[in-house]
Amino acid sequence: MRNNPIWQDLATHAQNPQLKDLGFLWQQADRLENLTFESENIFLDLSKNWIDDDVLSQLCELATHAKLKPAIENLFNAAVVNTTDQLAATHTTLRDPQHPNHKNNTALLFDLADAVHSGQIKTAFGKQVKQLVNIGIGGSYLGPRLVVEALTELQSESQITVYFAASVDDSLINQLFQSIDIEHCLFCISSKSFSTVETLMNATAIQNKLEQIAGYQPTTAQSSLMAITANQSRATQAGIPEHMVLPFDASIGGRFSLWSAIGFPIVLAAGKSQFRELLHGAHTMDEHFRHQPFERNIPVLMALISIWYRNFIGLSAYSCLPYDARLRSLPKWLQQLMMESTGKMHNVQGDVINYPTTPWVFGDHGQLSQHAFFQAFHQGVDALPLDFIGVLEHNSPAQDFLLYNMIAQGAALMQGKEEDHSMKGCPGNKPSTTLLLKDLSAESVGQLLAMYEHMIYTQSVIWNINCFDQPGVELGKSIARDIQEHVENNTLNEVALDPSTMALIKKVTE
Ligand code: F6P
Repeated sequence: MRNNPIWQDLATHAQNPQLKDLGFLWQQADRLENLTFESENIFLDLSKNWIDDDVLSQLCELATHAKLKPAIENLFNAAVVNTTDQLAATHTTLRDPQHPNHKNNTALLFDLADAVHSGQIKTAFGKQVKQLVNIGIGGSYLGPRLVVEALTELQSESQITVYFAASVDDSLINQLFQSIDIEHCLFCISSKSFSTVETLMNATAIQNKLEQIAGYQPTTAQSSLMAITANQSRATQAGIPEHMVLPFDASIGGRFSLWSAIGFPIVLAAGKSQFRELLHGAHTMDEHFRHQPFERNIPVLMALISIWYRNFIGLSAYSCLPYDARLRSLPKWLQQLMMESTGKMHNVQGDVINYPTTPWVFGDHGQLSQHAFFQAFHQGVDALPLDFIGVLEHNSPAQDFLLYNMIAQGAALMQGKEEDHSMKGCPGNKPSTTLLLKDLSAESVGQLLAMYEHMIYTQSVIWNINCFDQPGVELGKSIARDIQEHVENNTLNEVALDPSTMALIKKVTE
């Protein structure tokens, strides 16, 4: 990659200090017009970034050279893009109204949702379902949680309250049991593999608790447990009645799965029409990604800017800052999406690469972040790319206040302020991106999330890595399994781990 002439040109360009000087860059004619973009419900302002028109067009050339166009077609045509697992990545088919997967998936989810709402499906206590606890982690948690939070403040057809249990934690499960109405609660084991230990442990803990409660009488017709998985046989072997297992295909990556059966909690919490709208919004972004030229293609531009900062300017962090409480889980979702997808050091050919890939992604609700880590943004030595995300449709002074704050932060970071006392001054010249959503409808949320998904896919194509596998996550899990087994069998002396780790195990087991 580094040997290609466009990459080298960009690297040379990046040495030019004027490209890191926003004061200089703003002397460019038509900068605002050239660096702001709009598509459907999203407005994107890239003008506060360390880029100019030349850099942007060179980055677009880089994308062309990386064969991004055919790679996009491969994604949409269900070619094998996950080469490690020899799978296509079919999440976009679920949002395409013309694709049979879309119809099958929504029919599956909506039928079960109807059966739940109508009382045809009851809990093992013979009661109507009024709550759902989603037991799952990673992609089987972050997406549904984000969307449920984002949409449930809006009206819905028939709302069922959704709770989430992700990490293994006795106190969390105990707390959960105090907050829910157990007899009216459906517990949903969400796991693509149905082998994630923490999820299965939580499911067992919950099942054990349920079995101790008087009146708990699971039958095929009445169940307090359901499952969502790509591994149906494991779920039925675990005792979940077949009609309570919602399947999805292995070609749907975990962190790209909220559109699939994994989105069932969204259907229950926000309603069928909002789920449809969510898919529709994502499909609109799919079409944009597929057909717009790179120069006006929002996810492509987002990816190119991130690559410019990561590979040419050398910035290693990335922050996501939504200024709306309903989007508070967006940074965590994006963190998994970007870091698990592009935290790779091997290219698709299996060779070690010589350029950095994912940045460290972090963020929080923008207002909370202001009072936590913005000091470092304003006066810290490093700069980093930031995404400010605001929602335009608002109808309260509090929301106005939030948006003004967000805009002010971008301005303050760029402009800075000189003070007589130099330690009080802010140097300014710090870059940021601003994304404005027309509203927080399901359609806009769908567009926003699909935009980030495609941004990550674009990054991976340019970096020549597979964004749909995550083999690195396995190592820690297998060591944990090993430790547990040896502790249980009293054979710790056979474990070949370093002295620090052994001493820690000793402390735990003493
Ligand atoms: O963190 C590793 C991972 O495999 C993620 O990719 C995935 O989203 C998560 O674990 C949960 O996996 P599953 O849905 O199979 O339980």
